[in-house]
Amino acid sequence: MSDFTELWAEIAPVGRAESGGYLRYALTPPELTLRDWFRTQAARRDMRVTDDGNGNLFAWRGEPWAPGTVLTGSHFDSVPHGGGYDGPLGIVSAFLAADKIDKSRKIGIAAFVEEEGGRFGVPCLGSRLLTGAITPEKAASLRDRDGITFGEALGGTPRGHDPRIANVAALVELHIEQGRALTVPVGVASAIWPHGRWRMDFAGVGDHAGTTLMADRHDPMLTFAFTVLAANKEARLSGAHATVGRVQVEPNATNAIPSLVRGWLDARAADTATLERLVDEVVRKATERAGRDGTALAVTPESVSGEVAFDEALAKRLSDLLDGAPILPTGAGHDAGVLSAHIPTAMLFVRNPTGVSHSPAEHASDEDCEAGIEALATVLEELG
Ligand code: GLV
Ligand code: MN
Ligand code: MN
Repeated sequence: MSDFTELWAEIAPVGRAESGGYLRYALTPPELTLRDWFRTQAARRDMRVTDDGNGNLFAWRGEPWAPGTVLTGSHFDSVPHGGGYDGPLGIVSAFLAADKIDKSRKIGIAAFVEEEGGRFGVPCLGSRLLTGAITPEKAASLRDRDGITFGEALGGTPRGHDPRIANVAALVELHIEQGRALTVPVGVASAIWPHGRWRMDFAGVGDHAGTTLMADRHDPMLTFAFTVLAANKEARLSGAHATVGRVQVEPNATNAIPSLVRGWLDARAADTATLERLVDEVVRKATERAGRDGTALAVTPESVSGEVAFDEALAKRLSDLLDGAPILPTGAGHDAGVLSAHIPTAMLFVRNPTGVSHSPAEHASDEDCEAGIEALATVLEELG
């Protein structure tokens, strides 16, 4: 058994559902178990653990936030029934890379909270708080599906921006690749597509499914269905991505015309202008259709993340260091993207043979993960 397979086996059962995917929502028991595991790993390596008051955990070799520290790590939380690699691979790899490098290097290993926004709706919540990209009050008020606020789950209002982030010399997040573009074990990130989440509330008139004449209906499900198809079409036409993967229906009864359909549009594009045009066009078409259906549409942006171009010179330097590892963009969001506005930041990707992610089928081979750990160790030595 390699060190990787051994460590990976320790966390593999935590939060695994019958689907084979994971339910590791931020600050719920499985994620708290992983945080305990993080503390144990840090203690084994004599690394001090601190909590930044925002829900982010850090394990330090050297003084916490010492100038010149190189930060690595990722997140434990998953999307509903997501894969086990998205996030935890970056943390497990960080501890194993730390074992390989000179012990005099100042490093920090981060476990960022709520990266997926799977519980409270805003992705990269921990890194946004740490860098001041969201206010503590706004973050504290975000609610999960049971009505519990982030502040309640955390045990108080988050502390917010920590200026000591400026002491960090560089951040390197290792992550499983989430497409099929990487055909060798390890790559380096160039950019993250701008992306966002828009909540769409379609309001209509609830009524009896058996007695309401078809001509008399104001059915928001029709407006919603049209909008899903329109989003797909507009994305295809503009070379962008649009997804509606979450929906709520009220009253959600087989024999009642819904009074409300709430759906979330996830949209992403290679550049901001394309993304804005895509969302504007979807909303325009949905609004026009609502007029014909006699329904009403309200659109609320829940989080919008701008385009990220990682430090080009740093990416090139890491690629050269890693024997010409390919440099590639991604459509997935990451805490590294949020931090890149504040400190030199890079990402390493580990090959994903099928490209499938946010699904129980997400996978990377042990050999590729081990190559990722080697690469991360090389990079930490170089930057530290
Ligand atoms: C996070 O993985 C995202 O891109 O949604
Ligand atoms: Mn993810
Ligand atoms: Mn991730």
